[in-house]
Amino acid sequence: MASAPVILPTDLAKRVIDPHAYAQWDGLLDAFDYIRETSPVAKVVPEIEGLFEPFWFISRYDDVMRISKDNATFLNNPKPVVFSFNQAIEFSRAATGSNMLVDSLVVFDAPIHPKYRKLTQEWFMPRNLKQIEGEIRALAHRTIDAMIDAGPQLDFVEQVAGPYPLRVVMQILGVPPEDEPRMQMLTQQLFGGQDKDLSGSGMDQMSPDQVVQLVAGAVKNFEDYFADMAEQRRANPTDDVASVIANAMVDGEPLPPRDMAGYYIIVATAGHDTTSASTAGAMQALAQDPEQFARLKADRSLLPGIVEEAIRWTSPVQHFMRTAAQDVEMGGQLIKAGDWMMINYVAANHDPAQFDDPRRFDASRSPNRHLAFGAGAHQCLGLHLARLEMRILFEVLLDRIEGIELAGEPSRATSTFVGGLKSLPVRITPA
Ligand code: HEM
Repeated sequence: MASAPVILPTDLAKRVIDPHAYAQWDGLLDAFDYIRETSPVAKVVPEIEGLFEPFWFISRYDDVMRISKDNATFLNNPKPVVFSFNQAIEFSRAATGSNMLVDSLVVFDAPIHPKYRKLTQEWFMPRNLKQIEGEIRALAHRTIDAMIDAGPQLDFVEQVAGPYPLRVVMQILGVPPEDEPRMQMLTQQLFGGQDKDLSGSGMDQMSPDQVVQLVAGAVKNFEDYFADMAEQRRANPTDDVASVIANAMVDGEPLPPRDMAGYYIIVATAGHDTTSASTAGAMQALAQDPEQFARLKADRSLLPGIVEEAIRWTSPVQHFMRTAAQDVEMGGQLIKAGDWMMINYVAANHDPAQFDDPRRFDASRSPNRHLAFGAGAHQCLGLHLARLEMRILFEVLLDRIEGIELAGEPSRATSTFVGGLKSLPVRITPA
């Protein structure tokens, strides 16, 4: 075991924490390949002391899998589950008493986590989702109608990949269409805040303090909105997921208001920018490969493979953080109890030890045991929904268009957490 920890050189450490590095995909993958080969378990230490707490960067598939599945040794609480600067953590503590502005499923460990997760787990299973397939298909038709009206040249993210998953999530939560722009803006302030085009708030011009204020404002705004919704669903329950959360009981008590708000917020936010990114990635792969598009049009049984590979290839959730509960050895390094760790899904899903030629979009990859949905107790609650909505969208789209090609340079979001294409110019040939 190494006596002193391996520390990533400054230029590589910057790639790990700089949102702009995530907008340059090939460069990012090159950096992650290099790190994985030379120091798969290595510490990222801030150049300026106190800027952020040092953490271990974990880039190998096997290590990310091990950490994800061992929820007793690698905790989500008490340190933030998303990479954060100390200033942001301090603000959050002052504002809410917690390290994270929102306490939700991803922030809890056992014994609370399984109790909370159980509340909606059934709702998100394929058997229940079957009942809303028709509604999702109707949303897909409406989205593709609008796309064809906007064509032949259009931005696929703006017309389809962006709005469609948002509508699906809002539908399952029972949020009316007129409130969708508010939800979209709030989510992007929470998750895409590092990207000036996505936050829509000129955040790049703001001081860190102002940014944190803006994010806290977004959280408060969400909380108020969902407090009203919970009240309505208690008075008039329906079979939507919002009613399940509003009427949930844990150990004989309703959820405390902050936890209830956190539950709504995670369902409202976790499901759309993520699915947007994988949907846009699938379209990009098809637009770049007309033969694959033609094969898929002729044989729809290829669709689940395309969807799964798009999710791996894009890895929209780029990382989560964990905290070691006890000393552990990994990759020849001693990770001490209390150490913070970044499990990087982009790096793990491009590990050549697990995936042949990982940068290639290969819809026939089998097995495709990617980690884009995580693994273990926190594995994505919405993974069946994400797959279902992508499959339905492409079924509808394939019936309606004859061909699609790139019509400009795609561009990526500037974000270390949830990332993906923010623009995908295409030209379509309607059927
Ligand atoms: C392609 C789309 C999606 C991707 C890539 C994705 C990815 C992830 C990842 C990586 C995690 C953390 C897993 C872990 O820590 O092991 C997660 C958790 C979660 N996701 Fe997703 N997600 C997607 C879509 C959705 C959708 C559609 C929903 C629901 C509307 C959703 C709801 C959640 C929730 C509630 C959690 C927290 C689960 C827990 O901590 O127990 N996600 N997701």
